[in-house]
Amino acid sequence: MSLLETRALSKHFGGLRAVDAVDLALHPGEILGVIGPNGAGKTTLFSLMAGSLPPSDGEVLLEGQRISGQPAHRLVRRGVVRTHQIVRPFPNLSVLENVTVAALHAGGRAEGPPRERAREVLEFVGLGDRTHAVPGALTLAGRKRLELARALATAPRVLLLDEVVAGVNPAEAMTLAALIRAIRDRRHVAVIMIEHVMPAVMSLSDRVVVLDHGKKIAEGTPAEVVKHPQVIEAYLGKGHAGAQA
Ligand SMILES: Nc1ncnc2c1ncn2[C@@H]1O[C@H](COP(=O)(O)OP(=O)(O)OP(=O)(O)O)[C@@H](O)[C@H]1O
Ligand SMILES: [Mg+2]
Repeated sequence: MSLLETRALSKHFGGLRAVDAVDLALHPGEILGVIGPNGAGKTTLFSLMAGSLPPSDGEVLLEGQRISGQPAHRLVRRGVVRTHQIVRPFPNLSVLENVTVAALHAGGRAEGPPRERAREVLEFVGLGDRTHAVPGALTLAGRKRLELARALATAPRVLLLDEVVAGVNPAEAMTLAALIRAIRDRRHVAVIMIEHVMPAVMSLSDRVVVLDHGKKIAEGTPAEVVKHPQVIEAYLGKGHAGAQA
């Protein structure tokens, strides 16, 4: 059975079909990539899956049970957690306090005191020596690690990562990519990642879904989707498939 599934999931903003009848399935232990041009509907899709927005139509299922319509805080308790494209930690709380607050929202899966769990995830993401800093003192890559730590502190089963790698330098991108792989391999969290950084998404993903104008236009292994004519036209640009091969 799929861990998380969407069926004909749609979101309309007035006349705009931001997400248009999208079917996708995430399997246990999988990293699923979501790519597509700006405005394709990727973040809106995550908002629907994470309960930040109600769908206009269709449904989201967690292990076969309908979860769409439930608010985000309920879904966090059930293990469905997202990160945000624009990270927004509490600016006046320390890194440790930020993650401890998140740890307080974990469901029954989490064990131990929230502060200890916060320390453990901060070690895991590589911020163990920055616990007393305020978020504003971190680099962008550091704030992305903090965003990952806050999500992990809720003991997720499904993690929805919205452009965690984008915007950092190439060396930091490689270490963030390794961290995402470790989240799946060592913490056994299934991941859906929206990402514009092609080397990261193509090397990490077991499968990739391509969105364009709210619709799923392709799905397959990374090697399959980069060869897909509609993908090349909609997103990657002429010649890109050749460059990836
Ligand atoms: N709250 C909203 N109200 C109205 N329109 C919205 C809203 N949120 C998103 N949109 C529109 O829906 C479409 C999809 O936006 P979305 O942010 O999901 O795209 P995206 O694929 O995440 O893009 P990007 O790669 O730039 O992050 C866009 O046309 C956007 O302007
Ligand atoms: Mg987006």
